[in-house]
Amino acid sequence: MRHFIFSAFVILVAISFTQTSCYYDNEQDLYGTGNCDTSLVSYNTDIKPIIDANCISCHAPGGEEENSPLLTYDDLKKYTGNNDMVDRVNGTSSLMPPSGKMNSCNVSLITAWVNQGALNN
Ligand code: HEC
Repeated sequence: MRHFIFSAFVILVAISFTQTSCYYDNEQDLYGTGNCDTSLVSYNTDIKPIIDANCISCHAPGGEEENSPLLTYDDLKKYTGNNDMVDRVNGTSSLMPPSGKMNSCNVSLITAWVNQGALNN
């Protein structure tokens, strides 16, 4: 029985280690919807990490939607003027990412950033 408990413990530690080792460490993912300050959203601090984690697997060279890359500020800016970006992350037009809506903190940050003028800040 002790051996069993010990092995179970080792397996548990191993599982939690593999899960954290590829974890994308940004504030929104760590704190979820509770800590979501949209008062002044920054492209570099807030938006780029969200896009890098959720969008560029497709929206970059080699990805399935490589013709509309989202790697840089200028890339992203093309989709903020007509609110295409906001509609898509909110699911008002075809949802992005297609696999499912992001957490509400990410959605609010992108929406707020566009509403604040989509600044390169
Ligand atoms: C699994 C792949 C995939 C992921 C991940 C993904 N997209 Fe897309 N995206 C697509 C495809 C495919 C299209 C083209 C079909 C369409 O317009 O719905 C597209 C189209 C778009 C367009 C319109 C492009 C144009 O030229 O009109 C925008 C804007 C967009 N996505 C934003 C995003 C954002 C923002 C994210 C991350 C939050 C994201 N996408 C994540 C596959 C993806």
